Amino acid sequence: MELWSKQTIEDFRRTLLDWYDKEGRANLPWRLNHDPYRVLVSEIMLQQTQVDTVLPYYERFMLELPTVQDLASAPETQVLKLWEGLGYYSRARNLQKAAQFVVDELHGYWPESADDLQELPGVGPYTSAAIASISFGEVVPAVDGNAYRVFSRLLKIEADVANTKSRKIFYDAISPIVDTQRPGDFNQAIMDLGSSYMTAKNPDTLNSPVREFNAAFRDGVEANYPVKTKKQKPVKQQYVAVISEKQGKLLFERRPDTGLLASFWTFPLIEIDSIENIEGQQLNIKPIVHVFTHRRWEIWLVKRDVEPVSNQKYLASNEWQDLSLPTVQHKLLKALEDYNHVP
Ligand code: ADE
Repeated sequence: MELWSKQTIEDFRRTLLDWYDKEGRANLPWRLNHDPYRVLVSEIMLQQTQVDTVLPYYERFMLELPTVQDLASAPETQVLKLWEGLGYYSRARNLQKAAQFVVDELHGYWPESADDLQELPGVGPYTSAAIASISFGEVVPAVDGNAYRVFSRLLKIEADVANTKSRKIFYDAISPIVDTQRPGDFNQAIMDLGSSYMTAKNPDTLNSPVREFNAAFRDGVEANYPVKTKKQKPVKQQYVAVISEKQGKLLFERRPDTGLLASFWTFPLIEIDSIENIEGQQLNIKPIVHVFTHRRWEIWLVKRDVEPVSNQKYLASNEWQDLSLPTVQHKLLKALEDYNHVP
């Protein structure tokens, strides 16, 4: 790993921030001011979701729930509705719990350090450092995938980014480099660098503003960084979605309170070993596919009449349209609609 002199660190900060001031994405809506509420919502949405996808969700969320008090007192159904389509719904539930914690326990006063911010539900080491640096000027590195990518190349850091223990190695390596006057801008400049010139695939290092600081590029080994052990493929699971219709209503099932898609309504899903010899009328030849981080679901719609058990209910379309439904259920409804319209 490279060690930078004081002079190199100073040169790097100046180069990075000059570039950020000229070419950074200053117009991103969460950069308009440093309100910790606006920053928190953006950082939670941006976990696992791309900036372009987040933008319309963020604008809608801020219009409907402009302050932490609004979010704390909103009905959960409203919050989930605003989140619908973003996925990973525990993020939305935790976000609201965090708002309630700030309003109810802290009387509206935000924790100002990364350490204290981690008391908030759903706020881990990265998010707390992002808020502390952006909103409160704390000099801490926000270590996310962008920081891993950028600094593993600049400093030739060999730690495996798939291993959670590597976070401390990165944190310690980046800490002395963070700009002490503008830590929030420094962290956001690294994010912008990581999503422009220093992307995962096909980085444009030749034109990168920090090319002269890039040790991996200098040594012709940029493609080896970040070091990452192969990630596991998502496990394939096959399901039958039971389509049971009664007086124009469809049977839905509420999922358990824990686990994947906790407490959401979907068609009853039955895990199967194979689609051979399934009882009932199979509606789709090719399965509907939905991929989660660790699971790949393949789902067949199968018509059969069943009597509802305790966590199941027949719902009319105006009833299920009012619910916030997970993306996979939207896919199933769309597939059923397509089937019903094909003569
Ligand atoms: N990704 C995560 N946080 C971000 C931010 N504040 N700006 C741009 N991209 C991000």
